[in-house]
Amino acid sequence: MHEAAGSIIRPGRRRAGVLTLFGFVLLAAQPSRAADTPDAAAGRTIAETGVLTGHVGCSACHLMNGAGQPDVGIPRLAGFSAAYLEQQLGYFAADKRSNSWMAPYARMLTQKQMQDVAAYYASLPEPPPPENDPASDGLRARGKEVFEKGVMANGVMPCGGCHGPAGQGMGTFAPHLAGQSAPYLLEQLRGWHQGKDRDPMGKMMATEAHAMTDADMQAVAAYLQSLPGPNAGAAK
Ligand code: HEC
Ligand code: HEC
Repeated sequence: MHEAAGSIIRPGRRRAGVLTLFGFVLLAAQPSRAADTPDAAAGRTIAETGVLTGHVGCSACHLMNGAGQPDVGIPRLAGFSAAYLEQQLGYFAADKRSNSWMAPYARMLTQKQMQDVAAYYASLPEPPPPENDPASDGLRARGKEVFEKGVMANGVMPCGGCHGPAGQGMGTFAPHLAGQSAPYLLEQLRGWHQGKDRDPMGKMMATEAHAMTDADMQAVAAYLQSLPGPNAGAAK
């Protein structure tokens, strides 16, 4: 008897559960209010002139086209997801990622300004890989091998598994690497290799870089710098 009653009641309960879940999904899918929508045009002004008188804009270092200055290790920002850029700005501002150049600029920004400037740089087409790259073909070939196959004997997983087969990044999970400055990439890898705790999202990279040789870090950085991003030259 009880069983029969249960079987009559249960489907109804399940339906109520599904309806509640549906309600949550609807709530989550509500478009955000206009005030919260990132404004890439406002972000462009921040990149150009900065937010405080007497301080330069981001473009003084990262340039207006987001190409950065590869030779001196200033990273490119074009080609990244807005979510990653905003997350890293938040880390610099909160001292969760330390860099003496970036910290003061990140601290000048409100959350909304971080969103806006991230939206601006994320909207740009990727610049072509830097010209006159001195890396040898042999070095790049080794880098390609490490990127695609890892060094499984040492526990180094294939980079492409997390960063995408073309180094294009995977949404908010792992950043874009294609076309990035080799000196910048090498500095980040060496930092993790030496045990530096870059930021709260860096744990996987610490494990990954720990087992890499310096020669392989140089090789993979050279290979990545030479990769045209999947959106190179195309407006997004
Ligand atoms: C004085 C030069 C300078 C200025 C101005 C500057 N940056 Fe940077 N930025 C750097 C350097 C150098 C790094 C690399 C930091 C490191 O090695 O950790 C960097 C890193 C970054 C990163 C992390 C990139 C990555 O791949 O993880 C972001 C995002 C960023 N900058 C955004 C900005 C924005 C937005 C502005 C303007 C509000 C700005 N920067 C202004 C020099 C600068
Ligand atoms: C298990 C997933 C995973 C694997 C495998 C992996 N990465 Fe990463 N990588 C990440 C994540 C997540 C981040 C973001 C870390 C952060 O925000 O601190 C990252 C960040 C990076 C950065 C910093 C990029 C920037 O713009 O600052 C570099 C460089 C990098 N990875 C290179 C590599 C290379 C080279 C390999 C292969 C040898 C590799 N990664 C393998 C997950 C991975």
